[in-house]
Amino acid sequence: MKSVYVGSDHAGYGLKEFMKPYIAGLGYEVVDSGCFSEGSCDYPNFAHNVCKNVRNNAENLGILICGTGIGMSMAANRFKGIRAALCANEYQARMSKAHNNANVLCLGSRVIGQDLALSIIQVWLESEFEGGRHQRRVDLIESL
Ligand code: RB5
Repeated sequence: MKSVYVGSDHAGYGLKEFMKPYIAGLGYEVVDSGCFSEGSCDYPNFAHNVCKNVRNNAENLGILICGTGIGMSMAANRFKGIRAALCANEYQARMSKAHNNANVLCLGSRVIGQDLALSIIQVWLESEFEGGRHQRRVDLIESL
């Protein structure tokens, strides 16, 4: 079973809790990497918790949520081997896998509604990397 590591700050906590059973229902092991309450906290810590597990195992995926998704995506993309995509619609979610082989999905809980978030998550989890010329470009992200 593939694992999805999920993390949020206080702004994303509600959406994280909302999405966990949905992701499990799609057949994934859900590993909650915090936060664990709505108390104010710092998103880079949870980006780190998720990204260290995703970059150590190519089978793992991550989903990070903060208010805008921006802070989480900035923090996640600092980790070597992480390709984090901030998505606000299903097209971005599909293409972030197909062309960019994103291994972390970032969502803004104050930007999109909960039902749209679930739809984005499902599309992202079910989309596949196309490889080919896109592999060359993804490799360049790491090597340049
Ligand atoms: C928290 O207020 C907010 O700044 C945070 O969730 C996130 O949006 C940062 O990028």
